Amino acid sequence: MKKLKIADGIHMLTMNVEDILFEGIWEIANGVTLNSYIVQGEKTAIIDGVIGWDGVPETLYKNLEEIGVAPQSIDYLVVNHMEPDHSGWISNFRKIKDDFTIVCTDRAARMVSSFYGEDKIRVVKEGDTLDLGKGKVLSFHPVPNVHWPDTMYTYERDTKTLFSCDMFGAFGRMGEHCFDDELTPEEEEFFEFEAIRYYSNVMATFTPSLKKAIEKARSLDINIIAPGHGPVYRKNPQKIINDYCRYSQYAEGAGKNEIAILWGSMYGMTEKAVKHVEEVLRREGVRYSKLQMPLKSESEMVATVFRAAGVIIAAPTYEYKLFPPVATALNELGRKRITGKAAFRFGSYGWSGGAEKELKEILERNNMKWDFIESVEFEGAPRQEDLARIEARVLELIKKMGSKVVE
Ligand code: FEO
Repeated sequence: MKKLKIADGIHMLTMNVEDILFEGIWEIANGVTLNSYIVQGEKTAIIDGVIGWDGVPETLYKNLEEIGVAPQSIDYLVVNHMEPDHSGWISNFRKIKDDFTIVCTDRAARMVSSFYGEDKIRVVKEGDTLDLGKGKVLSFHPVPNVHWPDTMYTYERDTKTLFSCDMFGAFGRMGEHCFDDELTPEEEEFFEFEAIRYYSNVMATFTPSLKKAIEKARSLDINIIAPGHGPVYRKNPQKIINDYCRYSQYAEGAGKNEIAILWGSMYGMTEKAVKHVEEVLRREGVRYSKLQMPLKSESEMVATVFRAAGVIIAAPTYEYKLFPPVATALNELGRKRITGKAAFRFGSYGWSGGAEKELKEILERNNMKWDFIESVEFEGAPRQEDLARIEARVLELIKKMGSKVVE
């Protein structure tokens, strides 16, 4: 765990978490940070905590002491969002201190009680304030369904700091550099992908609510954005607000100028056509990523399709249906409400078709509204005329996705 001063009277404590499945699902290859913030006036508040793993709250206490804050002197736990990656330490904290007040929304209050049995709770609503003394005044701004329905922003007026919890967060471990103005170009690129991975894996389902939260952030006068995951933005907080706005467009069909090839092959027949498509894309100078299912992690798959303006689905028929690992991936994209992508599918069949029918069912069931070019199916291995038809449709896809590119 690392401690950093982010403004007068405000510190961040941050730890890298690795080798976990985030939410018990997402394999996050580059880890994630959990950030807590301590605001000191005459009274002390901790905004968002840490996960409740063995040894973690104790590490937090040790770091608090090193910045001159006795854990027992904390008066308020501000719970911006109840998910246990931020609140999991509350029961442990109860063991070392009797008298503290949890500050949260009414939706969070129910969960704070049901998850941790806490009842000394101050429920806040839009615009309520908490004066900590010495000029430090916190105000509270609910942003429901920024992930869970309980979420709120906390804003510190003196330093104009927005504590945004999941909003404006990113996956990815932090090294020495924790502020936007310290990041090298490589680190900026790293956090761009990790923010996309985070948005697409965790937040995409809630895009309509995130758009409202973006507007709420824009209505505040902000010098610093201090999220619960990832770097702190103090040089240009508007950048991450604009980035999140762009990601909300990715969730609704826009994307970078690249194609994601979501593919699977049983015995290499569909793969032969994938290889041909790669030649076409290289010749046309179109950036692309290959996602072979089931070998790619769901986290990588969702993030890569999410950020692409065009998607090619290459999958054969398997037992009268779509090749199951690709069907599973598409269902996951549907659950995440990733809509409106420009797309094209091709694939092989042996003794029966059926993949196309299931593809349509998945799209309809999830109301995905993907904009498809007519599919190409071929019996057994692709012949020259099949490859020519696929090539023509790939060129059509490149044209179609042009109107959806937002970099
Ligand atoms: Fe970082 Fe929704 O918890």
